[in-house]
Amino acid sequence: MSANGGLAIDVSGLVKSFNGRRVVDDFSLRIPEGKIFGFLGPNGSGKTTTLRMLCGLLTPDEGQGTCLGLDLRSEAPLIKRQTGYMTQKFSLYEDLTIKENLEFVARLYEMDNRKARVEDSLKGLGLYERRDQQTGTLSGGWKQRLALAACILHEPRLLLLDEPTAGVDPKARREFWDEIHTLAGRGITVLVSTHYMDEAERCHEIVYIAYGKLLASGTADEIIADTELYTWRAYGHEADRLASKLRGTEGVASAVAFGSKLHVSGVDADALARAIAPYRDGHDITWEETTPTLEDVFIHLTSGSKDNFA
Ligand SMILES: Nc1ncnc2c1ncn2[C@@H]1O[C@H](COP(=O)(O)OP(=O)(O)O)[C@@H](O)[C@H]1O
Ligand SMILES: [Mg+2]
Repeated sequence: MSANGGLAIDVSGLVKSFNGRRVVDDFSLRIPEGKIFGFLGPNGSGKTTTLRMLCGLLTPDEGQGTCLGLDLRSEAPLIKRQTGYMTQKFSLYEDLTIKENLEFVARLYEMDNRKARVEDSLKGLGLYERRDQQTGTLSGGWKQRLALAACILHEPRLLLLDEPTAGVDPKARREFWDEIHTLAGRGITVLVSTHYMDEAERCHEIVYIAYGKLLASGTADEIIADTELYTWRAYGHEADRLASKLRGTEGVASAVAFGSKLHVSGVDADALARAIAPYRDGHDITWEETTPTLEDVFIHLTSGSKDNFA
């Protein structure tokens, strides 16, 4: 247990501005050790900026706190040493082999016992067979696996992963997440940004920000319950085409087609019922009330938040 009541991350009031624009605005977060937290929000919302402040690469303009019990401001170099940060953009050398890349990282961290640790890492993440393959020739899934190997090589206690599975196929994403859960099982704390709802659902808790502001946090079920959104599902003859008709109607916060199904949500149950009423009779469409999905909630939260950068 850490010196910080078992919290791997405990920060409050973080603010960061670029060119006079607040891209992270009063951000607070507590993550218990060994938990996986998903970090969601539209592009440009400040996720990467926040991750960089947490691992000591950026200094916040305001706010304070600790990572791994170490002070964000005065002990940033110590935080860096115990944190694995996987950048949004693949940042290993394409012209080195898998093994050479890991050896390079091992030297960077001045690790002892480098040869054995690189070998363990290759085997642990299923990279051993491909160890001599040039990194530039790897598929997205293998690159991402190598990037994970590189960021856990120095045995960090905290992992900050920035959209690690963007553009990776579903099977590789699933394997990646199995690995994340294995790491968490060993007590490693993970904060991972993603746009994938299935990944959000594999996290212990979710943090949702839009345009710098934290809008929701908690388990998926908590976030759905807290949002107090009402949702109707419609399916049948061209139900999905109603989306554009319903959008902008009074009482409708969002209308989104999922394949041939339509989800219509609003915060006022009566107003929502009135909005869909014209499409309930005489249309070959079945309507039923449903629990909103995480995606419904996020679409609603994002549409209600102001893009102060627009
Ligand atoms: N170094 C920087 N200088 C100026 N603006 C930046 C810098 N880094 C990020 N931004 C801006 O801050 C906002 C948040 O960016 P970012 O943290 O990358 O968001 P996200 O990761 O959620 O997409 C964006 O509008 C981005 O253009
Ligand atoms: Mg980003």
